[in-house]
Amino acid sequence: MMIGVFDSGFGGLTILKAFLKKLPEYDYIYLGDNARTPYGNKSQDVIYEYTRQAVEFLFDKGCALIILACNTASTKALRKIQQELLPSKYPDRRVLGVIIPLAEAGVETARYGRIGVIGTRATIESKVYVQELGKLSSQLKIFGQACPLLVPLVEEGWVGKPETNMILKKYLYRLKRQKIDTLILGCTHYPILQKDIERIMGKNCRVLNGPEMVSHKLKDYLFRHPEIEDRISRTRAVTFYTTDDPARFKVLGQKFLGQNIPEVERANSTSLFLKTSRSTAGQC
Ligand code: DGL
Repeated sequence: MMIGVFDSGFGGLTILKAFLKKLPEYDYIYLGDNARTPYGNKSQDVIYEYTRQAVEFLFDKGCALIILACNTASTKALRKIQQELLPSKYPDRRVLGVIIPLAEAGVETARYGRIGVIGTRATIESKVYVQELGKLSSQLKIFGQACPLLVPLVEEGWVGKPETNMILKKYLYRLKRQKIDTLILGCTHYPILQKDIERIMGKNCRVLNGPEMVSHKLKDYLFRHPEIEDRISRTRAVTFYTTDDPARFKVLGQKFLGQNIPEVERANSTSLFLKTSRSTAGQC
């Protein structure tokens, strides 16, 4: 069996990259729902339904454990999947998200308890980080900032361009004024902008390396859960699926993964994605 990594598109490849570095021995399947990305501005019901379909697809392919690398899916769908889907249909499988590992890393890092979080509109407006950080410590001051323009800029390859840095400065200005000492990058795409964010925030703010933190927590999880770990095969195979064009995924995905992607398959399944296009067609 494999470890599944799911994202709404390319961004989760930054997390897979860290897994391949820290835990290279396992077999992985990556699924990017590029046909329906972005999730960040969609409603809870839609995000849940898309994520549920993706999870069922990855279980069908033989995953024992799935990591929702997408912050938005972790925020809007993870709880319902854990509380309803798994007990009723997949009691021996697991689905984990990235919010709790990142919140834990934030608390471990913050020196003065002033933590900033940036993410998509769905993630920031849900206040999920405020809740999770609040459970870990009551002493924190938490400042959230939605940055909806960053995902398209990263996907367009506009990293390092003056326009992108100007937008970043605008988004980060308020957090800088609040003198945060730690910044959580609560979106899969932002690690690509890490260096620029660090430069803008200055030396008094630590910008967390999310993928590294999440891979560290996954290692710890697998150590604590041998009943899951024992079922994961170790042939170092990595399989890539996208719901959109495999050729485009290969080209752009390599930038996020930082290495060659030999082959990409289109995620075709009667239970997955077709259902949505059929119902959309019905409405037209
Ligand atoms: N993967 C999403 C996240 O981490 C960003 C892209 C999107 O909006 O779908 O929140």
